[in-house]
Amino acid sequence: MTDYKPVPEDKFSFGLWTVQYPGRDPFGEPTRPPMDPVRAVEKLAEIGAYGINFHDDDVVPFGADDAERDRILDGLRKALADTGLVVTTATTNLFTHPVFKDGGFTSNNREVRRYALKKVMRNIDLAAELGAKVYVAWGGRDGQESGGAKNVMEALERNREAYNLLGEFVTDRGYDIKFAIEPKPNEPRGDILLPTVGHAMAFISTLDRPELVGVNPEIGHEEMAGLNAAAGYAQALWQGKLFHIDLNGQHGPKYDQDLRFGAGNVRGAFWVVDTLLAGGYDGPVHFDFKTPRTEDDKGVWIAAEACMTNYLILREKAQAFRADPEVQSALADAQLPELAKPTISEGETWSDIEAAEVPDVEAIGAHGMAFERLDQLALEHLYGVRS
Ligand code: GCO
Ligand code: MN
Ligand code: MN
Repeated sequence: MTDYKPVPEDKFSFGLWTVQYPGRDPFGEPTRPPMDPVRAVEKLAEIGAYGINFHDDDVVPFGADDAERDRILDGLRKALADTGLVVTTATTNLFTHPVFKDGGFTSNNREVRRYALKKVMRNIDLAAELGAKVYVAWGGRDGQESGGAKNVMEALERNREAYNLLGEFVTDRGYDIKFAIEPKPNEPRGDILLPTVGHAMAFISTLDRPELVGVNPEIGHEEMAGLNAAAGYAQALWQGKLFHIDLNGQHGPKYDQDLRFGAGNVRGAFWVVDTLLAGGYDGPVHFDFKTPRTEDDKGVWIAAEACMTNYLILREKAQAFRADPEVQSALADAQLPELAKPTISEGETWSDIEAAEVPDVEAIGAHGMAFERLDQLALEHLYGVRS
């Protein structure tokens, strides 16, 4: 355990809300006391984190007046200066107060939509001042429980308006900030707009400034939709859209578990790390987990530290897997190098394909793809019997 110590180059960051989560759930009261953001920052620094992310309301309680806000923010600035923690990312709470019961950017109520934008812009000013380069946007209540309650096409249009306005805002203010949309299929709404990485990336391509907007896939959210999270990360990387990541754990399609990273679908977590390494992701390695309400404060810090430990373990395993000569021969047998070759050779056109000889389909069809051996080698690395 103790060999896996985080260093700043690992760029591990945490949402303040992760360690602040007091254990409230739909059936029960909090089991832990509220945590002051300054304590959260100090303890995160102590366990070896590099940066933080926060919702406006994680730091300044909703409805606080300007004097109170200034006082609290001074405390945060001081804690950041004292600990050397970086603000990698910021985000806005558009889901807790009852005013957002039908969402923020896509609430049916126009006044709510305008207020949501104003709240986000105010927090972007703060994010820019604190040096955040990414602004995460999770439209958790932008959705519906019943078909007639939301005109989805119009809601998408309102969402587009919102991102276009925010793109104009950061451009006019000269901020070096990009947006990362966080998809989620459901919870707290029955169905949420932009439910998966694919939906979000298709939406982004409709914006005025698509280059300012990418995605923030969360492992658990993709798995709630029954999807392969690593494949979603891979497509976002391939499209140059992986602006941020929310790592955590989930056991298949059920409520959003937000387990510590490395718990839940362990095998899926291995492939996510492998994908991030292969794709050269170099943004913050951000954890978005919630410590189960069975735990006390001690358990919170064990879980937070474990997110980093598990990432370091899985990184080591993914690197060992890729470096293993037997894996390399298994990859060749499984024809991975062949997949890396263009299907159409330089200078060829469709007429070359039309004229090409039909291959020996029977022989090719009879030849196994050798994926089982490759996967068993991955599992043996994961199970710790190969290194
Ligand atoms: C969830 C979400 C949230 C968001 C956060 C950032 O677990 O439902 O992941 O935790 O990431 O609100 O906007
Ligand atoms: Mn989640
Ligand atoms: Mn998240």
